[in-house]
Formats: sequence, C-alpha cells, structure tokens
Amino acid sequence: MIEIKKLTKQADNKLILRGIDLSIEKGETVAILGPNGAGKSTLLKVLATLIKPSSGLVKINGLDLKKNHLEIKKLFGYLPHSSLLYDHYSPLENLVFFGKLYGVTNAEERAIELVKEVGLSFFLNEPVKNFSRGMIQRIAIARSIVHEPELLLLDEPHTGLDQGAISILNNVILSMKAKGTTTLMVTHDFKQAAEICDRIIIIKNGKLVDDFKLEDRALNLVSEKYQLQVEGVS
Ligand SMILES: Nc1ncnc2c1ncn2[C@@H]1O[C@H](COP(=O)(O)OP(=O)(O)OP(=O)(O)O)[C@@H](O)[C@H]1O
Ligand SMILES: [Mg+2]
Repeated sequence: MIEIKKLTKQADNKLILRGIDLSIEKGETVAILGPNGAGKSTLLKVLATLIKPSSGLVKINGLDLKKNHLEIKKLFGYLPHSSLLYDHYSPLENLVFFGKLYGVTNAEERAIELVKEVGLSFFLNEPVKNFSRGMIQRIAIARSIVHEPELLLLDEPHTGLDQGAISILNNVILSMKAKGTTTLMVTHDFKQAAEICDRIIIIKNGKLVDDFKLEDRALNLVSEKYQLQVEGVS
C-alpha cells in the first residue's frame, strides 16, 4: 500500500526527515510514536501530498507521489492538527461540501449518516464556530472519512475527545480496517495505539528507530520499547 525509500525532508537548512525506509501493507493499522519535533507530522504531510520530499521515493498503491498526486489525493483521508472545517458552515454543509469535492454520490445522505455516527445529529445545522474542541474534532473525523478512503492518515486523532468519542473513533478505525482500509496514526497516546494498532513505529530525530508488530494489545511492550528507544531506559 505504502512504499517509502530513503525519504528525506529538508526545510530552512534543517533535516527534518533523515532517510526513512518504510513499507506498509494494505489493511495494516500502524501507530507512529515519537517525541515532539521528531518529524511525525512532517511524514504524514508528505504522504498527504501537502509538502514535497527533498529526496527519496514514495509510492502509494503503486503510484509515484511525484507524478500522480492528483490520483493519490482521492485515495486517502487526512486528519491534521487543524480541523480544515469552515467555521460559518454547519456540520451538514461542511460534509456535503467535502463530499461533493471528492465526488461522493448522495453526499447529503452520507453527511447525515456520518454526523449521526459521531453523535452530533442534534447539532446538524448549527454553525461549527459555536462548537467545543471535542465537537469540532468529531466533525473533522467525519470529514476525513466522508469519501470512504482506502488510506487514513490521522495526526493525533484522539486529542480533545471524551471517552464516548474515543470509542466512536476507535470503532470507525476498526470497522474501516475490516473493509481493508489502511491506517497510519500519529499519536502520543500509547493506550489508544495499543488498543487499535497491529504495528508500532517509533520516529526520533527524523529517523525510524523501531518498528514492531503488536499482538494482544500489549500496552506494556509499547511503553518499554518507547522508553528504550526515546528515553534510553532499559
Ligand atoms: N516548514 C518548516 N520549516 C522549518 N522547520 C519545520 C517546518 N515544519 C516542521 N519543521 C520542524 O521539523 C521538526 C519536526 O516537526 P513535526 O511537526 O514533524 O514534529 P512532530 O513529530 O509532529 O512533533 P509533535 O509531536 O510536537 O507534533 C520540528 O523541529 C519543526 O520545527
Ligand atoms: Mg505533530
């Protein structure tokens, strides 16, 4: 699904990504862990075609990122730190807008269904500007999956969510996984990573320092490996 070879990203004379090699199979649910400033969001932005790599190769579904970014854009849903929503629009208007942008047929039906799924039907027609942080995040999640993407790129998706919304999000990710969707999720929340991911990668100083499979939601293993690689504790 994703093939990354010798990827580097340089900005302002600073090497943010320093030669990442990574291959991700269709249907995998992968957590990207690492300290602040490690390059996690930068990696996601490269995959979301928002910034160009300085060197290296990136392929998504066999398509070269350099040559096919328009085709690639249709394949993924991206949830960045910011919501990308239009403040003065309601959830319904936002989701219909983004749905149509992605060529979703029955965009209105799909929008109503998604708002219900994230538990905000009561606020279907309220402008998003009046929403709390968690409510905005719920609609932002709905926006990122409006076109039922094959690949989900999520940057700290659990931020600001209450327990109910965390369950909703995890169920969304797992039910999409059951349909074959691949998920790449940046997070600082080891518990959620262990809960839903079957593979963990750790990035430090723009390099991939660990990559392992996870079975039986082994939260302890995640903490141990992180401490070893990032904090140097064994
Ligand atoms: N456009 C840019 N120009 C210069 N430096 C940048 C740019 N974008 C990111 N950086 C730098 O690259 C480094 C990695 O940033 P990035 O946002 O990828 O980190 P992160 O791992 O997502 O961190 P966090 O956990 O805090 O979200 C940081 O030192 C940041 O200051
Ligand atoms: Mg980040």
